[in-house]
Amino acid sequence: MHHFAYRNGVMHCEDVSLEAVARELGTPAYVYSDATLRRHYQVLADAFADRKTLIAFAVKANSNIGVLATLASVGAGADVVSGGELLRALEAGIPADRIVFSGVAKTEAEMRLGLSKGIFQFNVESLPELRRLSRIAEEMGKRAPIAFRVNPHVEAGGHAHISTGTPENKFGIAWHEAESFYEEASRLPNIEPVGVAVHIGSQIMRVEPMRAAWEKVVSLTRRLRDRGFNITRVDFGGGLGVPYKDGEDPDSPIIYARQVREALGNLDVQLVIEPGRLIAGNAGVLISRVEYVKERDGRTFVILDAGMNDLMRPALYAAHHEVLPVRTPEMGSARRAVDLVGPICESTDRFAKDRPMPPLKEGDLVAFMTAGAYGATLSSQYNSRPLVAEALVRGDACVVIRRRPTFEEMIALERAPDWIASG
Ligand code: LLP
Repeated sequence: MHHFAYRNGVMHCEDVSLEAVARELGTPAYVYSDATLRRHYQVLADAFADRKTLIAFAVKANSNIGVLATLASVGAGADVVSGGELLRALEAGIPADRIVFSGVAKTEAEMRLGLSKGIFQFNVESLPELRRLSRIAEEMGKRAPIAFRVNPHVEAGGHAHISTGTPENKFGIAWHEAESFYEEASRLPNIEPVGVAVHIGSQIMRVEPMRAAWEKVVSLTRRLRDRGFNITRVDFGGGLGVPYKDGEDPDSPIIYARQVREALGNLDVQLVIEPGRLIAGNAGVLISRVEYVKERDGRTFVILDAGMNDLMRPALYAAHHEVLPVRTPEMGSARRAVDLVGPICESTDRFAKDRPMPPLKEGDLVAFMTAGAYGATLSSQYNSRPLVAEALVRGDACVVIRRRPTFEEMIALERAPDWIASG
C-alpha cells in the first residue's frame, strides 16, 4: 500500500504531481510520501498494540531528518549503527530511551555517545566489544543495558549479500556460546544484560525462517531466566521484505505479527523490532529524466540522469526496481525492450537490461518505484555528481528535505597542498 498513483495521466505523490516536483527540485530526486510512512508505522503499531513493543526504525534504510522526524512524530524509536545515525535520530526528535545501538564495530567514541545520551540498549556482537563497553561505562560511572545479538544459524534474505544469520557471516555471537557470554556479562558491574537480539537478513519474503530464529531466541531467553538472569526484552530484528515487482507477494505485516506472537507464546517480555524497508521501502520513488536515447548494435539505451551513485541497489545486488513513466504513455503505444542506464562511467551503471518500456524520449520523466529504503542512504558523489536531492510530500504540500549541494559545498573539505603554490 502506498500513495503514488496516476491522476489525469501524471503520476502523483499524494496530491503533488511528480512533474511539479521535478520542475521545482530538478532531477534526479527522491520523493517520499508522509502518509505512506505513517501508515506503515501504524499498521505495525496496531498489530502489536496490546503488548509492550518498541518499533525501532532501522535508520540505515532512510536517515533523512525529515523522514525520521515524521516517524518520531508517530512514536517510532530507532535502530542505529553509528554515532552519525544516533545523532540524526536524536536531532529528529526520537528520544534516547527509544534508540537501540546495533553494529559490529562500535568505536569508543560511539559507546561514549550512546552512554552519555542514555540509550535504550546496546546490541553487543562479541566479547571484545562487551569488555570495551564495560570499561567505558565504568570510566563514565554508567551502567550499559545490553542484549547479545545471537547468530542463530538460520539462512534467509533476498540476496546472499543481505543474509546475516549463518556462521560465515560476521554478525552476532555464536549460538552455542551465548550462555557463557551472559555469565561473563553478569559479572561486569557496569553491564546490565537485559535482552537477547537477533536479525537474520533483509528482504525476506516468508516469515518462517525468521520464526525459526525467534524461537531460538525465546528458548534461550527461558534458559537464561531459569539460570537467574533478568532478561526482560527480546529484539527480533528487521528483515520482512516488500514487493519490488508484480507477482512478488511477501508475507504481510499481519502474518508477521501473528507469527511473532506465536513465537513469543506466554513469554512476558518487552518486544523490540527493527523494521527498515517495510516502513520506508514503498514510501519513496526516485524521479529521473531521460537525457538521451541511443540506438546501437541493435540495442536501445535509455540514458537517464540518475546513476548508480543515486540508486545503488541494482548495481550492488542485481535488485529490480519498477521504472514507470511519470506521464502515462499514449493508448496503444507498444512496449519495447530497452536498457535503462545512467551517466556513470561503469558498466554496472545499468538499472535494467532488456526491460520492456513504453516509448521514452529525451526530456521524459520516469519514476523508480519502491526506492524509499536503501536508496538515498546508499547514494554517493561518485563522478563528482552532487548528492541526490530529497523531498517529502504531505497532501498538496511538498518540502525539500535535502537540497542538492553546490559545487563549492562539494569541495569545501578538500584543498591542494601548499607545496604546489610554493613551487
Ligand atoms: N536490524 C539490523 C541489525 C540490520 O542490520 C538491518 C538491515 C535491519 C534491522 C533492517 O532490515 P530491513 O527491515 O530493512 O530488512 N542495502 C540492502 C539491505 C541491507 C540491510 C542491512 N541491515 C538493500 O538495499 O537491499
